Amino acid sequence: MDFKTYKSPIRAVGSLNQGTNTVLFAGDCMELIRLIPDNSIDLTITSPPYCMGKEYESSESVDDFIAAHEAVLPEVVRITRDGGSICWQVGYHVHDKTAYPLDYPVFAIMAGIKEVKLRNRMVWSFGHGLHGTMRFSGRHETILWFTKGDDYHFDLDAVRVAQKYPGKRHYKGPKKGELSGNPKGKNPGDVWEIPNVKGNHIEKEGHPCQFPVGLAERCVRALCPDGGIVFDPYMGSASSGVAAIVNGRRFLGAEKDAKYEGLAHNRLLRAYDGAVPFRPADRPIRVPSSQEAVARRPEHFTEVFQ
Ligand SMILES: C[S@@+](CC[C@H](N)C(=O)[O-])C[C@H]1O[C@@H](n2cnc3c(N)ncnc32)[C@H](O)[C@@H]1O
Repeated sequence: MDFKTYKSPIRAVGSLNQGTNTVLFAGDCMELIRLIPDNSIDLTITSPPYCMGKEYESSESVDDFIAAHEAVLPEVVRITRDGGSICWQVGYHVHDKTAYPLDYPVFAIMAGIKEVKLRNRMVWSFGHGLHGTMRFSGRHETILWFTKGDDYHFDLDAVRVAQKYPGKRHYKGPKKGELSGNPKGKNPGDVWEIPNVKGNHIEKEGHPCQFPVGLAERCVRALCPDGGIVFDPYMGSASSGVAAIVNGRRFLGAEKDAKYEGLAHNRLLRAYDGAVPFRPADRPIRVPSSQEAVARRPEHFTEVFQ
């Protein structure tokens, strides 16, 4: 195992440059990023604070989110290799029942950086969350995937999913009667239904806003070459680090809260031992059988559905 944690950003970057596989920095990501050389990261995948008053957030204002992103995004582009990718996962800032989609300012800032192109806006949908009474309940967030330049790494075969109709055939034209699907599986598309890490999800580590390892893994496998460097500036419990390690990529993560940095450190040690449970993105969503108590409708429920 080749894994180091530092409180000094100079040492962290030095260690990464010397080839250490996994490097954690316990501090503010901007201190670290400023020291990372140009064109050195293959994939950044992260979920920044949404400024929603969570225990790890110092602001509740969208203006602060925008100001922080005006500083961090150009720097993340600078350190990304030509042909590398940036996946920025955000949801909505909600205040007074008013929703502000945080990918709007992220896109607006990135649109002003000429070498960067948006390739997809993935919708991450999940079945559970808070129940709205004056709005539809929020059940999705987004991931903006940008590349630096046009000649970018994209390994679709590494993330194909099972065909829905593998026996489907061309019904007309010269291939009429032949099987029409790709035998390697189909493109997963840009709507990803992956359960969020709530309740008794097997990935729960004690961080309030973990994203699923499967979500990060799909990005890692498709967008970072074998042995390449995955970076997460706001790593939290290091879900992206787990995805990197189990897939043979290097990892650089920053976390300014000592409690979460410690949690990430322990989790990545376990990842090296193959002891971190996670749910692959292509596992079908579980539907309870009619025999299970949770699927039975109580007498007094007035809902009537077909
Ligand atoms: C939304 S959470 C990320 C959760 C992560 N994706 C996971 O799966 O656990 C954002 C994290 O960024 C950390 N953070 C906030 N500002 C930071 C900064 N300037 N530098 C480093 N970490 C920061 C917070 O403490 C929090 O743990």
